[in-house]
Amino acid sequence: MAVLVTGGAGFIGSHTVVELQNAGYEVVVVDNLCNSSSKSLERVQEITGKAVKFYEADILDAAALDKIFAENEIDSVIHFAGLKAVGESVQKPWEYYNNNITGSLVLFDVMRKHGVKNIIFSSSATVYGTPAQIPVTETCPKGEITNPYGQTKSMLEQMLMDIQKADPQWNVILLRYFNPIGAHKSGKIGENPNGIPNNLMPYVTQVAVGKLKCLGVFGDDYDTPDGTGVRDYIHVVDLALGHVKSIEKIKENPGLKIYNLGTGTGYSVLDIVKNFEAATGVKVPYEMKPRRAGDIATNYADASLAKEELGWVAERGIKEMCEDAWRWQSNNPNGFEG
Ligand code: NAD
Ligand code: WQD
Repeated sequence: MAVLVTGGAGFIGSHTVVELQNAGYEVVVVDNLCNSSSKSLERVQEITGKAVKFYEADILDAAALDKIFAENEIDSVIHFAGLKAVGESVQKPWEYYNNNITGSLVLFDVMRKHGVKNIIFSSSATVYGTPAQIPVTETCPKGEITNPYGQTKSMLEQMLMDIQKADPQWNVILLRYFNPIGAHKSGKIGENPNGIPNNLMPYVTQVAVGKLKCLGVFGDDYDTPDGTGVRDYIHVVDLALGHVKSIEKIKENPGLKIYNLGTGTGYSVLDIVKNFEAATGVKVPYEMKPRRAGDIATNYADASLAKEELGWVAERGIKEMCEDAWRWQSNNPNGFEG
């Protein structure tokens, strides 16, 4: 039996494929490479020594998905495929709703036709909006979401809950990620954003490697210890291992489960700059900029439910996250393009 990983050539997907293969799972990947390179899967093979069965296809393409399910004995799906840039989603709402929502509905339909009813979905802490309490627990109400990307996560959570309610044979695990950073220890796979990065850590590493001049710090007047935004940064390998634990859990027929995947510790933007400089010995010039629209002051997880029910905790600290992100960036200044 195999696990189908949609979006498996991407940042979190490629790291998850490594950990699934290391744990002995057979993995099939589908990805249309709209935000990734098939080279990531060649690198996965270098790391694990195991070939990755790869289909270059779009999840909007029902016939292509049907073929994948017909050709492989799939018992569970980990669904990463989606567009993820918050700002771009405001400019291109139709593209985001079509790709993320329609694409997922096509996937769920093909799954049900083939009797595959186990799914782990990549959700996001973004569904909490401005969290009602910090640290955020899974019982916190969903908040006001200010962009189409976040709406797609919230809507897909609801759709999967409704599908599971109507047919309790479905097992649905919604994983709400906090801020994934870092890279595999080998330096062979990592985050490879197109164009100027939107997220903090890839911006920091690109300044450090000399591709960008200076980090802009978006706001220094938040109600936080140093005035800059506080987030729960989680090592992508810990996040990947959370998916392996979820695949184990789904075999127990758990029905519907929702877990935060975070460390429970918040770091400010300036904490990240200082920790990165200390871990790598490389200076990161920065300047203060106005707040970025839609940002919140503080967000970090209560991840105790994942510990209790999945036996999962994030083990890699901020030093390791910075060292590993830097190894990937400095070994691959132009990502997978050499
Ligand atoms: P990524 O862009 O690196 O990976 C997504 C992959 O999906 C890419 O390889 C892309 O080519 C593929 N894809 C997109 N649309 C597709 C389609 N229609 N058909 C087939 N493949 C398609 O992003 P990531 O950071 O690895 O994120 C993975 C998932 O986790 C996404 O759903 C994202 O929204 C979610 N998530 C990411 C973060 C984060 O900060 N990185 C946080 C919370 C949730
Ligand atoms: C972190 C902190 C910024 C860039 C986003 C999505 C969220 C989830 C994870 C997918 C904030 C500050 C950033 C920069 C900065 N993705 N910053 N200068 O906004 O917490 O979350 O990614 O689901 O949905 O919204 O992450 O890395 O963009 O920002 O000062 O150049 O760094 O203001 O305080 P965010 P981020």
